[in-house]
Amino acid sequence: MLSIRDLYVSYGRAEAVRGVSLDVPKGEIVALLGINGAGKTTLLSAIAGLVRSTRGSITLDGEPLAKLRPEYIVRRGLALVPERRDLFSEMSVAENLELGAYLRNDRAAVRADMKLIYAYFPVLEPRRQQQASTLSGGQQQMLAIGRALMSRPRYLLLDEPSLGLSPVMLEAIFEIIERINREEGTTVFLVEQNTRVALSVARRGYVLENGAVVACGTSEELLDSDLVRSSYLGGEQ
Ligand SMILES: Nc1ncnc2c1ncn2[C@@H]1O[C@H](COP(=O)(O)OP(=O)(O)O)[C@@H](O)[C@H]1O
Ligand SMILES: [Mg+2]
Repeated sequence: MLSIRDLYVSYGRAEAVRGVSLDVPKGEIVALLGINGAGKTTLLSAIAGLVRSTRGSITLDGEPLAKLRPEYIVRRGLALVPERRDLFSEMSVAENLELGAYLRNDRAAVRADMKLIYAYFPVLEPRRQQQASTLSGGQQQMLAIGRALMSRPRYLLLDEPSLGLSPVMLEAIFEIIERINREEGTTVFLVEQNTRVALSVARRGYVLENGAVVACGTSEELLDSDLVRSSYLGGEQ
């Protein structure tokens, strides 16, 4: 389980995460909802070790993460797919995937995992020698997820995977996120502004406003709540 307790993160004097506590149980998909500026990316960055927290704790299966460097957090089995995807745009699809496995020494297993990624994302295989920058937005999102999977994570953190995708691509990506969770047993912490889609795949969710958790519950409970209905589903009933 990924557990966060009373976490604070600041940029200078501005507090972006203020006293967040949440749990992502092993094997589940948990959603984190919130508008732009709520602190979602900051929270994921703190978990992945990219920014430092000022207070509170982050533990993965009981082990504290907060003081570890990012590569050690990857070694512990946690991978982040960042909001901007951060692909190596001049490099090929295959090279991007290989770089996702840079901490691994088991070359045969890495080759097998490349095959697995192409099985999840068949559209990438004929493009494996193509530069990442030539891919469509949806294909780039697939490559970013594939690259994260190449580190064999037990925990996968996704920062707004739906951003900029067509409805068809969005459906394809979320179907694969569910499959990865089901078939690989990967625990998924899913940050989304697309409430409807996120709560359709997640079992539970949290709502973040101004750096603090203002609601949590099962997806059904959240979809039923006045807060989510009025502020996160565009007022639909
Ligand atoms: N690198 C940064 N330096 C200073 N302030 C930042 C930085 N990144 C984010 N912020 C601020 O922190 C708050 C939370 O941002 P962010 O975590 O990106 O929210 P979200 O991902 O929910 O849109 C915002 O007020 C944002 O302006
Ligand atoms: Mg963000």
